[in-house]
Amino acid sequence: MKVIAGTSSPLLAKRIAECLNAKLAKTTFKRFPDGEIYVRIEDADEEAVVVQSINSNDDLVALMLMFDALEDAEIVAVIPYMGYARQDKKFNEGEAISIRAVARLIESYASKVVTVNIHSRDAASYFKKLIEVDAMPIIGRYYAGRDVVMVSPDLGSYERVKVCAEYAGCEFDYLEKVRINAETVEIKPKSLDVKGKDVVIVDDIISTGGTMIEATKMLLNAGAKSVECACVHAVLAGNALNRLYSAGVRRVVATDTIERAVSVISVAESIANVLR
Ligand code: R5P
Repeated sequence: MKVIAGTSSPLLAKRIAECLNAKLAKTTFKRFPDGEIYVRIEDADEEAVVVQSINSNDDLVALMLMFDALEDAEIVAVIPYMGYARQDKKFNEGEAISIRAVARLIESYASKVVTVNIHSRDAASYFKKLIEVDAMPIIGRYYAGRDVVMVSPDLGSYERVKVCAEYAGCEFDYLEKVRINAETVEIKPKSLDVKGKDVVIVDDIISTGGTMIEATKMLLNAGAKSVECACVHAVLAGNALNRLYSAGVRRVVATDTIERAVSVISVAESIANVLR
């Protein structure tokens, strides 16, 4: 078995290869003058573990070309961050269900697909061969022994944060919107008093940072001593990180499903475990 490190996941691929005691294949990625991507994989085995997050259109094209280059191999596709999963239904008539198209493409090449915390059950439902790794225990263990409380930015992420907090051994809550009157909506923790506490807001994705920024402002207003933001997938679109720090976030922490400076927690061991 060889691990193929894609353009978007070189570090995580190396870590997974180390966990599996497997070798990395020799790859060449180039870009032609017109912008097209070129892929060559020279020494693949019959079994190929392709590691490539989809965080851009180029990532998706590179993935497709890697699959094609591996035409004689049995392919396991490890897509740590499954982009396009937020368009998991037709929100308006005539729209593409993007994740359905992506799932069909990946599964036309791969015998098995491994991902980490896909955006929704709807998104997962378009795959037939999907194995999902939950990063919440991993993030939770990272905070174990620290005197923090965890908060979900909404009810939708509550179950995820509950798992995270159980592994961290800390209290947890979620933020709820309370309508004060026709003009005013207040966001506040359902029952936890965050005054004087070090709070960690936990979510699956930080994209624009908007969700975390709103939650941070609210928690600091409520008297939190400090606010950290932890997520699985650090999409960090545009200048999200600057905006988070400007809003008073003390620290941003993420896993390495998307390789960023803030990716201090690795999902490599958990992915390797499902591949063994
Ligand atoms: C929403 O369903 C997700 O759990 C995240 O809260 C969301 O994707 C974060 O996006 P943003 O950083 O743009 O607010």
